[in-house]
Amino acid sequence: MSVKGDKCVCVTGGSGFIGSWLVHFLLEQGYTVHATVMDLKNENETKHLMAMDGAADRVKLFQMDLLDPSSVLAPIKGTLGVFHLASPLTAEKDPEDLLVKPAVEGTLKVLRAAKECGVKRVVLTSSSSAIAPNPHWPIDAVLTEESWADVDTFKKHNVWYPVSKILAEQAAWNFSEKEGLDVVTICPGLVLGPVLPPKVYGSVQLFIYILKGIQVPMESLYIGCVDVRDVAKAMILLHENPSAKGRHLCEEAITRFSDLVNKICDLYPEYQIKRIEEDRQPWLVRADNPSKKLMDLGLEFSPMETIIKDTVDSLKSKGCI
Ligand SMILES: NC(=O)c1ccc[n+]([C@@H]2O[C@H](COP(=O)([O-])OP(=O)(O)OC[C@H]3O[C@@H](n4cnc5c(N)ncnc54)[C@H](OP(=O)(O)O)[C@@H]3O)[C@@H](O)[C@H]2O)c1
Repeated sequence: MSVKGDKCVCVTGGSGFIGSWLVHFLLEQGYTVHATVMDLKNENETKHLMAMDGAADRVKLFQMDLLDPSSVLAPIKGTLGVFHLASPLTAEKDPEDLLVKPAVEGTLKVLRAAKECGVKRVVLTSSSSAIAPNPHWPIDAVLTEESWADVDTFKKHNVWYPVSKILAEQAAWNFSEKEGLDVVTICPGLVLGPVLPPKVYGSVQLFIYILKGIQVPMESLYIGCVDVRDVAKAMILLHENPSAKGRHLCEEAITRFSDLVNKICDLYPEYQIKRIEEDRQPWLVRADNPSKKLMDLGLEFSPMETIIKDTVDSLKSKGCI
């Protein structure tokens, strides 16, 4: 395997929806990638990565579980940048133990390993649900990266995924300040677009539910959407631009969940989608181009309509709809 030292990076959660596109673009740009998967024997996690152009020479797979400290160091050793994406999405029972704990403790394990290995920068995947809703944000003001979502509100409503993202990002900032590790974070909205892994889950599964007319209660956390390829490209820009600092909201626009659902309805009247008529997010100020920090780095966002069409085309070609 030919390893260019300065271009060797680690992608945790490399087999996932966003991780797979990130590995794809990193390979395209000449990087060598240490990608982590949870189970090396599971072809659903490995086959599509190893089939990518350049993978045979420049992808090395590592089995890593965020809760197993002994598995975290190996994929990070020898790399100069870490993209930390691995994070659990659901836990039906005991979410504090099965969702929040792996996200927070796993993030700290990754950061400690990065510090120990002399990694130059960690790009951490947070979420727009770590930005809003924020009951203290001024009414009528457009949300920015200055806003932090309120953990207690989510806990009160028993919505644990955002709790895991908020606490993991906060833990990362505390670590970065104390230990002097260079960290930047990216906060994507609902990520949609073409799916590379064989299985579909998470945000794209949610999109399938919308197409099937199943009501999904997203109003407490949705503030916009973004194409998966734009998220992956944004991550590489953050890795490559030392001038990038802090948090980075990553979505094509700030929109309400009804905007997304009703646009899908307009584009695909043949599906039994339930239109949302009432205003369920009066607290959310719509805005074009809210991700200015990423646009200043050169990122161009796909608009919502294109994102929806590309997601539908991908799901059709996979036989999922
Ligand atoms: N999709 C969205 O709308 C969205 C929006 C904002 C932020 N994000 C964040 O983006 C990141 C990637 O999400 P995604 O949409 O690509 O989801 P995904 O496809 O489910 O990817 C998550 C990855 O994390 C891995 N993982 C989960 N638990 C783990 C553990 N305990 N130890 C090691 N690896 C573990 C998964 O491995 P397996 O495949 O083996 O389970 C998978 O590769 C996550 O941090 C997510 O919170 C996603």
